[in-house]
Amino acid sequence: MDNTIVRSKFQEHFNTTGDLYFSPGRINLIGEHTDYNGGFVFPGAIDKGILAEIKVNGTNKVRAYSVDIDEYVEFGMNEEDAPEQSWARYIFGVVREIIKRGGQVGGFDTAFAGDVPLGAGLSSSAALESTFAYALTTIFQIDTDKFELAKIGQATEHNYCGVKCGIMDQFASVFGKKGHLIRLDCRSLEHSYFPFDPAAHGYRLVLVNSCVKHELVGSPYNDRRASCERVAKVLGQEFLRGATMAQLDAIKDQISEEDYKRARYVIGEERRVLDVCEALEKDDYETVGARMYETHWGMSLDYEVSCEELDFLATVAKECGVTGSRIMGGGFGGCTINLVKEELYDNFIATATAKFNEKYGHEPKIYPVIISDGSRKL
Ligand code: GLA
Repeated sequence: MDNTIVRSKFQEHFNTTGDLYFSPGRINLIGEHTDYNGGFVFPGAIDKGILAEIKVNGTNKVRAYSVDIDEYVEFGMNEEDAPEQSWARYIFGVVREIIKRGGQVGGFDTAFAGDVPLGAGLSSSAALESTFAYALTTIFQIDTDKFELAKIGQATEHNYCGVKCGIMDQFASVFGKKGHLIRLDCRSLEHSYFPFDPAAHGYRLVLVNSCVKHELVGSPYNDRRASCERVAKVLGQEFLRGATMAQLDAIKDQISEEDYKRARYVIGEERRVLDVCEALEKDDYETVGARMYETHWGMSLDYEVSCEELDFLATVAKECGVTGSRIMGGGFGGCTINLVKEELYDNFIATATAKFNEKYGHEPKIYPVIISDGSRKL
């Protein structure tokens, strides 16, 4: 990401220069809403994210400027100093979570900007958290491993932003590796890197953004999590992870119809992630794609986190012969992720763009996926 704007805004506001830190957004090939169920996910970091320039300012205040929103905020670092602006709460939350873990954070100045689209399901918020978690622990020499960085980001969401998210987004942002997806067991945090190069097999991975903005804060996201926790409890388990359909059917009359459907989706998704990992090891992209469609319709019909526009995009993808297509991320808007054969790519993009435009009056945005490295100092 070009750093000229961040550099010039930092200079303009603080009349000095600092260091640059970057953390990426993520894609997720499969394994949606499984992270907070203790299950598996299969994400990778992308080449888009958040870039921040930061310098210690010798006070006990944070002075932060968001280039994209064109807003400047100052806040202290005690619990009662929480800023109102939602973007600033991410930075405040990270500071607080580091302090709560015993880290000594001093005041600093920062200007930041992003090229990861907001509310598109690409984890712009995790990118923001990871950027500051990585930068502040580096700058203030707080001994923190990468697992803890991811947990600081997740705790920020829980405690300062109102989203009871899982660990996937922050983990992918911090641990990302160029050309690799990460198969992560969200219960043990055991993970392995999978080389992922669809182009070598004649495929492309592309995101189609419906531009329906999703907003997980105060959204039904937390309700989905609560449904899963209720079912796990009836099953006598900490997480839904590992539950079978037979076990679920055996308690069907003790849970609501809605909770049943939510759990049915999660149990199916658990299987699909493992299938996809296995298929990839055999370069079996057809199976990968088939599971992606199953995930889409599971998320739409059972988990009910899709929307009309995303269902439309997945349907058009199928009609165009796209190998796999599904809603990606938390849901309620954002992008589909599509695995497309090279020779069908141009036609798919042209057809999806035209049909979507005809129906919804605006074109979707297209982002080719480039799997990249995680949090770093530039
Ligand atoms: C959001 C959350 C993640 C995960 C996904 C759905 O991105 O932040 O923790 O639950 O939704 O897979």
